[in-house]
Amino acid sequence: MLLLTGASRGIGAKLAVKLAELGYDLLLVARNEEALKQLKLEIQKKYSVNIQVISADLSQSTSVLQLLEKLESFEISGVIHNAGVDAFQTFDTQDLKGLEDNLYLNLTAPMLITRALMPKFLSKQKGIVIGMSSLAGLFPTPYGAHYSAAKSGLWAFIQALAIEYDGNGIHFCTIHPGFVHGDGMHEAHKAIAGDAPFFMGGTTTETVIQKVITALQSASPSPVYIANRFAVKPLLILTHLFPRFAKWLSTKMMKKYLAKVAHSSAIDGQKK
Ligand SMILES: NC(=O)c1ccc[n+]([C@@H]2O[C@H](COP(=O)([O-])OP(=O)(O)OC[C@H]3O[C@@H](n4cnc5c(N)ncnc54)[C@H](OP(=O)(O)O)[C@@H]3O)[C@@H](O)[C@H]2O)c1
Repeated sequence: MLLLTGASRGIGAKLAVKLAELGYDLLLVARNEEALKQLKLEIQKKYSVNIQVISADLSQSTSVLQLLEKLESFEISGVIHNAGVDAFQTFDTQDLKGLEDNLYLNLTAPMLITRALMPKFLSKQKGIVIGMSSLAGLFPTPYGAHYSAAKSGLWAFIQALAIEYDGNGIHFCTIHPGFVHGDGMHEAHKAIAGDAPFFMGGTTTETVIQKVITALQSASPSPVYIANRFAVKPLLILTHLFPRFAKWLSTKMMKKYLAKVAHSSAIDGQKK
């Protein structure tokens, strides 16, 4: 059974349906229990797989610890750490508790869940840990500094485990989507600030899902999968070699658009 977090909507919900179609039993986690139960019904109407749901708030330590206890009664063969929240905003106006919760959700919870699953993976010499990072985890992202840092941390965490546990039959991968068109948080950006400029790249829900499936089904998955319409690997190498270039590029390519997302989100937040 695969543990999939953030399955109640967005990319995670679509991924759950696709995985069920491929025959994977799933344990779905998110806060919105109603949405998870609906998804379970929808899946079980079409596919004969075992779907279990657990409602948990992965930004809160008590809730994560309760989840870890519940996980002990499931046979988990792999985990996809998909739950995540971006919250673009100017850093100096970020709410302190919000920052802490965001970091917990995007980084601490995946670490604790992975820690809880590792002993079983090691005893079976089998398992897979997939982290849904972001291009923001490989490239400094203004107005999402905390998100960029957490996604970068998720990447470093999982890549470090890949080296530490090499040869133990456990695979570790991170997926790095650019702005995703179709489902998820970028659709919310688009609703408030319009589409991201074309040259910023982007990808689709289907491409992201395909990367996850490739990782799951490969005998030797790549440690890193990038989902983006443009080939960004050469750019990423250049930005690490030349940090001033990274700053220039991020300023030219992303700052204006993300400032608009941050500004529009703030206005949107005030209206609510
Ligand atoms: N969409 C993009 O453009 C994009 C690009 C790069 C990377 N990503 C990454 O892809 C992943 C999925 O994003 P998405 O676009 O599908 O986002 P989304 O539509 O906002 O969905 C986020 C999922 O995470 C869950 N979640 C949020 N806060 C949670 C909490 N405190 N505890 C438990 N679950 C929580 C949500 O469920 P509940 O609200 O029910 O809890 C939901 O199922 C994220 O890790 C994101 O960082 C997305």
